[in-house]
Amino acid sequence: MDKINQDFKELIEVAQESKKNAYVPYSGFKVGAAVMTGDGKIYGGCNVENASYGATNCAERTAVFKAVSEGHTDIKAIAISGDTKEHLYPCGICRQVLIEFGDDIIIVLMNKNGEAKLTTIGKLLPNSFTNKDMEEVQDGI
Ligand code: THU
Repeated sequence: MDKINQDFKELIEVAQESKKNAYVPYSGFKVGAAVMTGDGKIYGGCNVENASYGATNCAERTAVFKAVSEGHTDIKAIAISGDTKEHLYPCGICRQVLIEFGDDIIIVLMNKNGEAKLTTIGKLLPNSFTNKDMEEVQDGI
């Protein structure tokens, strides 16, 4: 087994398992994700679509919101599993949601063959807008 697959075994498994629950009557495009918190807890999530397409929630955000709503803002890593030939990257909205909780969050990207690749949210969303920018303005008031 590849070292990344070994290091993130459980996280990857939960992401793959969560993908089975994807509610995708409109796109048929199933995605699963799993978040690891600072104390080692894992929260899975899937994409949940809606007849009003814009109300759709991506798998990554489902997993993050589950962790945060259980009191875990210390997010260490997220695995993302789709059925694409190439590794599946998070969309722009999910990148923004993730960077709220730190630019060093590890992203475990998967392809349909179960091959894993690592990056960080800081690399995927450089020069981002975060709470630090808001503090600057507040200081100036
Ligand atoms: N989707 C995700 O859940 N995560 C991604 O990284 C890419 C897109 C979902 C949203 C929608 O349900 C479907 O995939 C097609 O865009």
